[in-house]
Amino acid sequence: MALDGSTHNGPLINLSESYRATRGEPRVALVTCAELPELDPDDRLLVGPLAARGVRIEPVVWDAPGVDWAAYRLVVLRSAWDYASRRDEFVAWADTVPRLANPSDLVRWNTDKRYLAELADAGVPTVPTEWVEPGATWRPPTGGEYVIKPAISAGSLDTGRYDLADPALRGLAARHVARLGAAGRLAMVQPYLSAVDTVGETALLFLAGPDGLGFSHAIRKGAMLTGPDQETVELFRSEKITPRTPSTAERATAERVLAALPGGTTERLLYARVDLIPGPDGTPVLVELELTEPSLFLAHAPGAADRLADGILTRLS
Ligand SMILES: Nc1ncnc2c1ncn2[C@@H]1O[C@H](COP(=O)(O)OP(=O)(O)O)[C@@H](O)[C@H]1O
Ligand SMILES: [Mg+2]
Repeated sequence: MALDGSTHNGPLINLSESYRATRGEPRVALVTCAELPELDPDDRLLVGPLAARGVRIEPVVWDAPGVDWAAYRLVVLRSAWDYASRRDEFVAWADTVPRLANPSDLVRWNTDKRYLAELADAGVPTVPTEWVEPGATWRPPTGGEYVIKPAISAGSLDTGRYDLADPALRGLAARHVARLGAAGRLAMVQPYLSAVDTVGETALLFLAGPDGLGFSHAIRKGAMLTGPDQETVELFRSEKITPRTPSTAERATAERVLAALPGGTTERLLYARVDLIPGPDGTPVLVELELTEPSLFLAHAPGAADRLADGILTRLS
């Protein structure tokens, strides 16, 4: 597979000669989906730094037949963005992979946004969410802007924004919830956090290092929702990304999120992304925690690809 990597420009941790002599050049799989067989361009930035560290990486499609996952020293989940419609199959697959980053129990927990309710119970500020089970009737409030989305989703798909003061949009919102329910999907109804239109969404990226998971960088993501769900069948919606320095409050909230993870530790994680939007009073609230297949926005922070390559190396020994 011909993949172009970035050139290496950071401090180099290399695999020891003895490691290589006894075990050969380690193979690391970067897991992707059939629609992106050569990975997302951002993930290709890892190729150069890992090659410079003596690691051979291979993009592998998660549901390709006949893959010997045990042959890899590490299997890193990256752009497996098509799992939302087949989530049970995806987490069952994750359970069969011997050395998966992030581990499959956390993938199972993180691929259903019900984890937001658990984190809220643990005291993390999260977007207030009403959960509508399939079969249940949802009566739209008669005012306010709301977001409707499925609990199992990725890439802003099947997600819409509705001004419920407008009767026509109330009808579309009710239809959206009903459509999710008819497909057996749990629906989430949230107030639209309008600060996303001005301040934007802040994604804080944490990467494994020699001392455990540490803050690496952050980006600003522009607002994604312009109106009702368009029922498109893309893999993801395009995003407007710029670098950002997170506020002290955002850093503190992200740390609270990570401290509330199941098992009470971040030790087993290779990466984590915490997505925050200011709530009505301006304090950051959690919209999404990504432990499964987050875009890591390596291109937006100098040294990030090298830091992730170093993190991967710490998992090989
Ligand atoms: N309550 C909300 N208020 C404002 N914008 C939201 C809200 N929930 C989601 N969004 C927008 O929709 C996008 C996708 O929603 P998100 O919960 O991150 O799901 P996913 O990324 O898994 O599809 C977010 O990046 C944000 O722009
Ligand atoms: Mg998101």
